[in-house]
Amino acid sequence: MNTNIIKQKHFKPINFNLQHVDLCFYLNPIKTHVINTMLFTNVIGDILLNGIGIELISISLNGKTLKPIEYIHDNYKIIIPKAPKKSTIKIISNINPSVNSRLEGLYISDKIFVTQCEAQGFRRITYFPDRPDVLSTYTVKITGNKNQYPVILSNGNLVSTKCIKNDLEVVWNDPFKKPSYLFALVAGKLSQTNRKFVTKSKNKVDLNIWIRKEDKNKINFALDCLEQAMKWDEKKYNLEYDLNIFNIAAINNFNMGAMENKSLNIFNSKYLISDKNTSTDNEYDFIETIVAHEYFHNWTGNRITCRDWFQLSLKEGLTVYRDQEFSSDMGSRAVKRIKDVRMLRAIQFAEDAGPLAHSVRPESYAEINNFYTATVYNKGAELIRMLENILTPKGFLKGFKYYIKKYDGKAAICENFIHSMETTNNIDLRQFYLWYSQAGTPEINIIPDYNIKNKKLSIKVTQNVPDTPKQKNKKAMLIPLKISLFNAEGKKYFLDKNKSKKELTILLKNKSHTFYYENIEANPAISINRGFTSPVKINLEQDKNKLQILMIHDNDSFKKWDQIYKYLLDLCIKQSKTAKNVKIDLFFIKVIKEILLNAEKDPAFASELLSLPSESEISENIKKYNPEKVFSARKEIIKTIKNNLSNEFHLIYKKCLNKTNLAARGWRALHNTCLQYLTIEDNLDAQKLVLEAYKNSNNMTIKLYSLSCISNMKSKDRNTILLDFYEKYKKQPIMIEKWFQVQASAKLKNNLRNIKRLVKSSEFTYKNPNQVRSLLNVFAKNNPINFHDNSGKGYKFIADQIIILDSINPSSAASLSSAFSNWKSLDQNRKKIIKINMKRILQKKNLSPNTFEIINNINKS
Ligand code: BES
Ligand code: ZN
Repeated sequence: MNTNIIKQKHFKPINFNLQHVDLCFYLNPIKTHVINTMLFTNVIGDILLNGIGIELISISLNGKTLKPIEYIHDNYKIIIPKAPKKSTIKIISNINPSVNSRLEGLYISDKIFVTQCEAQGFRRITYFPDRPDVLSTYTVKITGNKNQYPVILSNGNLVSTKCIKNDLEVVWNDPFKKPSYLFALVAGKLSQTNRKFVTKSKNKVDLNIWIRKEDKNKINFALDCLEQAMKWDEKKYNLEYDLNIFNIAAINNFNMGAMENKSLNIFNSKYLISDKNTSTDNEYDFIETIVAHEYFHNWTGNRITCRDWFQLSLKEGLTVYRDQEFSSDMGSRAVKRIKDVRMLRAIQFAEDAGPLAHSVRPESYAEINNFYTATVYNKGAELIRMLENILTPKGFLKGFKYYIKKYDGKAAICENFIHSMETTNNIDLRQFYLWYSQAGTPEINIIPDYNIKNKKLSIKVTQNVPDTPKQKNKKAMLIPLKISLFNAEGKKYFLDKNKSKKELTILLKNKSHTFYYENIEANPAISINRGFTSPVKINLEQDKNKLQILMIHDNDSFKKWDQIYKYLLDLCIKQSKTAKNVKIDLFFIKVIKEILLNAEKDPAFASELLSLPSESEISENIKKYNPEKVFSARKEIIKTIKNNLSNEFHLIYKKCLNKTNLAARGWRALHNTCLQYLTIEDNLDAQKLVLEAYKNSNNMTIKLYSLSCISNMKSKDRNTILLDFYEKYKKQPIMIEKWFQVQASAKLKNNLRNIKRLVKSSEFTYKNPNQVRSLLNVFAKNNPINFHDNSGKGYKFIADQIIILDSINPSSAASLSSAFSNWKSLDQNRKKIIKINMKRILQKKNLSPNTFEIINNINKS
């Protein structure tokens, strides 16, 4: 295996300026002709151009064609030795988009030409210094058959459109300097929807969405979101859009969700189209988030980009933080925070604890595509939020504005952002950098000691950052934690001498600290890491009375949820370790009862409070993972709670039924959570209830959820209903994906047979990443009892799929490969079978570096 490891410490700055790039494309599905003229200045030494899979026709330097002996050429690059200070290099070449199933570079999706250049796709289009710190202006001329490619788009402003016989020739010019990964081209039959936007300083912007005709009436919500995002960025950060045109093109075959190319965002249509009859509330949420996210990149990513790919979190972590804040302002801040933390704990904490652990700024990589991870994105976003907590929102805003001003037009590094915070807030944040270099989730131990005589509370806090595959003996981190203390009546104590603060942010710097609080009348309940101030694990034992106080009275809605969640998690863990039924404290049943009785006040929040940790959230918290036991333990706990509060659940469920068909999304969430409790036992009553929910629902949120409940049951209606759904929606790709997902996650025994059948059906293609995700990734990651079936059949199946996919789309194959990452926590038998299958993958001929890097890291752990 020829793997080339790229190391952060080997970074070398570029030895030239790239003034301007002039590109000409002659579109042809099997032979697209590309002429690339680059004007280099201030060249010192050799010029290195990356290029993969390109048929080179000629290369000329300052007007003279180079002979093969005048340059070095291999499968990955061209080097022009000792180039003149001013070098105009013209490269003529061909590429074949029709065989591009990796979906990187220029490819064809349903007859539409489309590009994906992040991270290193541009080198599959033409020979180029394909690194993010090479910033240049671009002029792009694209010529293609006018009947087949009536719409031709690229970055920046439209310069001209001409018809030449059967061809359309379109010229675009992007006045902003940008790296090659932000280049984009889209050409094909697309219909346009236009809206006008006027910026704060009265610039007019044309917003356009380009999508296939059939979906044209499903993009109004996305356009609304875009407008909201544009306004929000102006209001919150004083950031305006900077061109008169902003295009979004949507296509069906796309590796990711969406891409922020300058003024031409490209979206996986799945995350742009919505329809009140077929979209779920979660889908609406994600459209809002992703439209905003890609738009926000215009400043945090495009105007200020990354110097090298190790700095990825500089744009992604920051932009996730920004989209989280936007969505919080648009909807319920409390619910958004809870959902974000749940996701972080289930995926990022697991990543940090396993063989693929890496820091927010990784030290090395073989394939950069493998580092678009929850750690870089979501832990990265938490680091930004911690800075906001340390510096206060006002101080953070000062630093943010300084960063934008100072680094506009530049390729920056993570230090530049932190340093902007330091200068504007007059604070030393050197210790904070460790968050970017040390992997692993810090563990915080808290030991309180209350002295009734002098009414003093001392809290001893120690931190430990666990070893991870490549890092041992880590240093103490800078960790902010918000804290409040509650008395028995649920009132907060003052925590300072002036009696003005009931919440403080304590800052951990050393491995161990002791904090003292005076005038605390009685042993208090401690609410710490409020709002999830830091992405850490907290170990704190408190007695039942205190837990109860916090569960009922904590006014930090995240923490209130967290307290209940933690109790539920402990129950599931305990239950998974014994054959007996674990006892649920009476006080806790009362707490749940209170939630049910008061659910009407905020049904969306109530739904979160009632929803049990998922199997992956539970497995992340135990050392020895037994998939069957975790599955049945979780079920058992749900059952016990329901049996204790059956009347209450039925009562609130009835209320939900009356409200769900109104515009009230919180009620739909609560409906589904209650439905989970009420159908946890697979009996006739439950089957009837869920069937009614399916049939009577007039919205997809409930229809899809009830469908997934039915498909978990041995009901005689199961197949009829699945078929009913299929027949109704089979013409819409996003609905087929939902149908796949439901079946892929179905908990019925021997479900693998069904999945194998679906993979072979004519509905399924490996070439579409959405389908692969809906069927294969969902099976391998959201269906533990079937994937981990102790026969090992699930492992063999997924390994086979990885091997097939690897030849088609390495990035899909690599993402599926991480399904094996928790193998170490399984029993001997399972470990053995996984090991055999990983070996099999590693032995595949021409295995991609993408899959190799993931499987090899898991395998050697
Ligand atoms: N820049 C990425 C898209 C990307 C990542 C393209 C890796 C190619 C390789 C984009 O801004 C992004 O992060 N998209 C996310 C969604 C977002 C809401 C976090 C995605 O596509 O999942
Ligand atoms: Zn992004």
